[in-house]
Formats: sequence, C-alpha cells, structure tokens
Amino acid sequence: FRASVEGGFGEPGDAVVPRRQERQEQNPAELPVDGFENVADTDPAVAAHRAWARRVVAGEGYRPVQAAEIDSLPEIDAAVARADRAAQVWSEVSTACRARALRAIARRLEEARTDLVTALVHEPGKTVAEADPEISEAIDFANYYARAAEELDEVPGATFTPDGVTLVTPPWNFAVAIPVGGVVAALAAGSSVLAKPAPPTPRCFEIAIDAIHAGLLDVARECAEGTADTAFDEQVARDVVQFLRVPDGDAGQHLVTHEGVARVVLTGALETAQLFAGWRPERPLFAETSGKNSLVVTPAADIDLAVADLVRSAFGHAGQKCSAASLGILVGSVGDPRTETGRRFRRQLVDAVRSLVVGPGTDLATVMNPLTEPASGKLERALTTLEPGESWLVRPRQLDDDGKMWTPGLKEGVAPGSFFHETEVFGPVLGLMTVDTLDEALALQNHVDYGLTGGIHSLDTDEVDHWLDRVEVGNAYVNRHITGAIVQRQSFGGWKASAVGPGAKAGGPNYVAQFGTWHDDAALP
Ligand code: ALA
Repeated sequence: FRASVEGGFGEPGDAVVPRRQERQEQNPAELPVDGFENVADTDPAVAAHRAWARRVVAGEGYRPVQAAEIDSLPEIDAAVARADRAAQVWSEVSTACRARALRAIARRLEEARTDLVTALVHEPGKTVAEADPEISEAIDFANYYARAAEELDEVPGATFTPDGVTLVTPPWNFAVAIPVGGVVAALAAGSSVLAKPAPPTPRCFEIAIDAIHAGLLDVARECAEGTADTAFDEQVARDVVQFLRVPDGDAGQHLVTHEGVARVVLTGALETAQLFAGWRPERPLFAETSGKNSLVVTPAADIDLAVADLVRSAFGHAGQKCSAASLGILVGSVGDPRTETGRRFRRQLVDAVRSLVVGPGTDLATVMNPLTEPASGKLERALTTLEPGESWLVRPRQLDDDGKMWTPGLKEGVAPGSFFHETEVFGPVLGLMTVDTLDEALALQNHVDYGLTGGIHSLDTDEVDHWLDRVEVGNAYVNRHITGAIVQRQSFGGWKASAVGPGAKAGGPNYVAQFGTWHDDAALP
C-alpha cells in the first residue's frame, strides 16, 4: 500500500516547534515567507515539488463545480431507479472484476492528483501540505477495499448479499478522502452509489467521481471484450455511481428517506446523524459523527514530541477535523508552572502556537489555513469568550471581515464539566486542563459523550498500558498526533456518540463486509 502520510505541516521548513534557540524571540511576522526557498536552491526534487505546488496554488485549470443542483423530486426518483437497475447488475459482477475496477479507480485517482489537490486548495481552502496526503488516503481506500471485495468470496460456508443502492453523504472537511472512501466501500460490496456532495465542496467530489467513472470504464471495456462479466458495460459503469448535487432541505430529505435507498453512509455532525436516524427509523445507516478529542501528556513524555503532536493535532486544517485535538490534559508537573517541566512545556507550546503562519491555502507560506465557513455558534463562542476559570495563553484574533481567518487560540484553566470540556467546536482553539494523576486524566477524557480519537504521550509503558486499557475512544494513539489515520494501519471509527451503525472501522478489516447481509449456506434452500 502507498503510505498516506497525513500532512499537517509539511517537511521542509517545518515550523511547528520552533528551535527555541533560534526562534523563540522572533516575531512570527518575521519568519521566512517561503519555507521551500533555501532547500530548493540545492535540491532538484524540492525545486520540482515547489514548481508543482506553485501551479496548484495558482489554480491552473481549476474550474468551479460543473454539475447543476438537482432539487426536482422526479429527477431524484429517476436517479434512484437507475441506481437500482445498476445495482442488480453490479451485485452479480464477480468480486474479482469489482476488485479490478477498484484498482483501476486507484490509478485514475493518482492521475487526477493535481486536479484534486488544486480543488482542495481552491474550494474548502486547504494548504497543499494538508491536501496532497488526502489524495493518497483516497487511493489507499480504493486499493484496500479491492482486497476486501475479493475476501467476500473467501468466507467458508457463508454467502454475502450487498445492500443495494447506497447513498454516500460526506462532509466538507475531507472533501476527497471521505467521499471516495464511502463510494469505493459500497462498490466493493457490490452496491450502487448515489454520491451527494457536501454543499461547500461539490467540485472536489465531482473531480473524484470523474476519476471513479474513468476507472470503471477502463474495466467495463475489458469486460466487454468478453473476458468476464459481460453485463458490466459502459452504461452500468456510468449508472453504478451517480453524482447527485442535491441541496439540503426538502430535496435532501427526499433522497435520504427514499424507499429505494437501502443504506445511507453519513459522515457529519452528531445532530445530522440523529436527524437521519429519525427520518429512517430501523433502516440501515452508518454514521461517523463528532468528537471532543484530547491528548494526555504525562511527566514521562518526550516533551518536544508532545508539543509538536498537540499543535499538529489541534491546528491542522484550522482544527476542522472530527479527529482534531481540542484538549490537552496535563498530568502532574507538565501542567504545573512551578516546575521546570511545566515551564518548559508551556513555553514551547506557546512558542509553537504563536509560530503558526496563518494565511490563505493559496499562499505556500501558510501553515494554518482559514475556516471553510465563517465562525459562528459554538466555535465563535470558543474563539471569543472565556468560560469561568479560563484564561488565554494565546488569544485568537480575527484577521478578516467575514469571520473565516483567525489566528490560533490556546487557553488554560478549562474546568471539568464546562462548555469547552464537553463541546465539539471544530476550529482552531486548544484548551488545557490540569490533573494530578493519570486516572484523573482518564476520567476527564472519558467524561465526554463522544469517543472518536484520543492520545497519550508517555514513554512509560506501564502508564501507556494502563491508559490503553481504559480510554474510551475508537482511535487511541500513543506518542503520535491524533489526526491522520492511515488506511490499513489505523482503521478509523468512533465509539460512544461518535458513531452510529458500523462495528468495524473504515480502512480496516470487515468494514466492507458490513455493507450487506450474510447468509449461512447451510440454511439456504
Ligand atoms: N480520517 C481522518 C483522520 O484520521 C478524519 O484525521
């Protein structure tokens, strides 16, 4: 598998943890404006990458979404009927052929990498460093689920029947990887797909769908030559995945509740999952929802690494990740400014947060991009208001008029049971809590309703084992940032209120096998 290394802050010029001797007194405004500059003078590979990145940020060839919105209910009904016919053929296509199609999709996504990165930079506004690994993740999903398709035939004594028409409704924060992951999982299972983009990011999904169609057509042509599965023709390749730019509201509800839609795969806020569950009582729904994620740092941590990982987890894509770290829970001396460890941790963390270069994703010097949507509601409260007991270590500032461009915020004194302890805010604010013991840290971490990601930084294996046995999260990370799960290596999914439906996690064993029903062969007539 291609290793998808979640971006964050790039390789050259990595300024997350400034080398203190050189930078701690420096005004962030005086940091070098182009982190590639010096290395590129001597390294042709970096120079080539830099030239590529410049074309991406210049938006060469970028066009906004092409497909029109569909809010006509009869048009939606017609699309569902086409998807149903396609599902009947696709479910009969051999798993070997489906796997071949998924590998062809992976190749086509690689070919579309530049267009996809460009769309991520120009539509939701990611940095190149965050966008590029997202394409690798999408490719990883296609290759990984190709193998999962083959495995559906390898269960002795049992037969699998796919769900049928599957609606994939992804979020805007990973506008390529999550949508593609949903589509290729359903295709691997033998279902057809209705692909509804998140309203802020239709172009990202549209380009990915073009690549998916290209991959399917590649294989449909091979099949039409009579090698196998001749029913898988070009019409099926087009209808088995349909891009439906249906707006939220009545049309969206019509699609989600449609009798012909067998399963919905949602990644979004908990409130949306609850709404969908109410709309589709007792009908199949997979939802990966919200998180309120924290990273514990104990006195046995490598402090340099802990600071780097906390900052990367909290401020990558301006904190707009369900997996983002929103809280740092500091144990013992780490949170005590009267100790040398506590002073060092705080100084490095404040330096690191202040050093984040804020700007548009189209500026290669940017480390933290703006918000995709203007701050409002819970996020605006978190950026502008201190709750009782809290104080700013780094106060966020709004840099534009429309409320998207904020400098990062760091606050201490977050109280147990407070708004900031319990609420997902989905933006660039990190709060600190202090405790005396690891068990108190676990109590704060497990107190929240969600259970998506969580981390610990400690080089003491007894402490780590104790934590791993007790932490209530889907993805538990040790001495690592808590965003950027890698397909196959860190399958991704939530626990408690962070997930509805799937027992197995995306990008891991058994995920595809949940998109259908298993029958015991002995019980079949
Ligand atoms: N899969 C994404 C991550 O791990 C959400 O950060």
